[in-house]
Amino acid sequence: MNTDEIIRKLEQLNIFSSELDIPELQRREMVNQVVDYTNTFINGLNKTKGYEKKEIGNLAIQKNKSSLTGLLNKYQKEVAESGINAASPKHLGYIPGGGVFTAALADFIAAVTNPFASAYFASPGAATIENEVINWLKSVFSFPPNSVGNLSSGGSISTLIAFTAARDKYKIKNELIPKTVVYLSKQAHHSAQKALRIIGLEDVIIRYIPLDINHRIIPKKLHELIETDKSYGLNPFLIIATAGTTDTGTIDPLNDIADVAEMHKLWYHIDGAYGGFFILTSHKDLFLGIQRADSLIIDPHKGLFLPYGVGAVLVKDANAVLHSNYYTANYMQDGHNEELLSSPANLSPELTKHFRGLRVWLPLQLHGIEPFISCLEEKLLLIAYFRNKLYEIGFCLGPEPDLSVSYFWYPFETDADEKNKQLMNEIHKDGSVFLSSSIINNQFVIRIAILAFRTKKETIDEAVEMIARCLKIVLQSNKQ
Ligand SMILES: Cc1ncc(COP(=O)(O)O)c(C=O)c1O
Repeated sequence: MNTDEIIRKLEQLNIFSSELDIPELQRREMVNQVVDYTNTFINGLNKTKGYEKKEIGNLAIQKNKSSLTGLLNKYQKEVAESGINAASPKHLGYIPGGGVFTAALADFIAAVTNPFASAYFASPGAATIENEVINWLKSVFSFPPNSVGNLSSGGSISTLIAFTAARDKYKIKNELIPKTVVYLSKQAHHSAQKALRIIGLEDVIIRYIPLDINHRIIPKKLHELIETDKSYGLNPFLIIATAGTTDTGTIDPLNDIADVAEMHKLWYHIDGAYGGFFILTSHKDLFLGIQRADSLIIDPHKGLFLPYGVGAVLVKDANAVLHSNYYTANYMQDGHNEELLSSPANLSPELTKHFRGLRVWLPLQLHGIEPFISCLEEKLLLIAYFRNKLYEIGFCLGPEPDLSVSYFWYPFETDADEKNKQLMNEIHKDGSVFLSSSIINNQFVIRIAILAFRTKKETIDEAVEMIARCLKIVLQSNKQ
């Protein structure tokens, strides 16, 4: 093609391609429309249900263009009004958080300015924000300044980074794998075992550490297991403790477990994905020893109430993390001389990634830490309030949790598991507040997780009323 032809073709293409770079007036209109939509959504949160089960309509990408108004209507109907309303105060299942608004503003700014936060060379400012968030986390959890960290998409990927570092530091490969032992609690989150599988450690030996009646690891039993394994010539490797279990809200005795890990020179990992930020509250003594972990994960999209999509990992041994994640390539040579640890990409499997640091940094700077701490303290009181209320209407409760997750069941005289399942179904059918279920010690239980920042006493009152209402239906249906 000659130059004139190229220019003519470019002019033709520009008629369509320039549509992606919309002018200011249109930008304003669109942003206003989205702001109106999100305001209506937020204003309605107290009135809408926590859970709505429904068939989803057609969301396929259409050949013809659609209007933003039409798409927002569709979004509201098919996305916002279906399933769990995770922004709502009434999400009390799994592990909620809510999604603070100022983090959404940060995401908007990050997406519009689109800095390449993964490499210090490419965006020193964005990389520094990521690193300052990590520095703040190090100070919250008393990790040493020379430890490293990374902002991931969530707890599962953070675990992957931590375990990979552990694997590489302890050189767990080839014939050593089937002799290698990992110690964890039955209450550990499944992302731990999933991560082991993903990083090629599927064939390690898993030892479940005996727990006390509060679902906490018994350090003495852990020590005994390790001794026995050593006497059989096995290779004890990794201990996983949890600071806030998903089902029971338990914090394992972190400091005593650290003693065992240190004595046997094992890698000590703590999962604080759900519970970690409660270290900022009056319950901080329960976290004693957390700073002794080799690796720690914490999820700002849980305990800092940020929208889904940001987890964090801290690791003491920088070289272990670099070993698996730092790589060079010819096309990356311009940035090679930059400080290794200033580029998030060197500490993570991700190269190009969302600039997550901003959605943590901006809310913390705008609000200060106090409102976050107050929200967490609130949740600790709300779980106690909920348990009292439920006890008053005849429910059995799991042991008093350390944090804001607890479980319960109704003591039906016969077929208790079946009838509690029925109760769970009624609760889901009702949907005014969302709860989820689990199996603990082979028993079907309903669990409540109070962590969404918008959840207040009124929400808990609504939850108790709903549970009582659903219980009545189950009791009546079983009479007939
Ligand atoms: C204790 C704990 N660890 C890890 C995870 C996994 O985190 P994510 O869902 O962000 O991958 C969860 C999720 O609920 C959790 O509760």
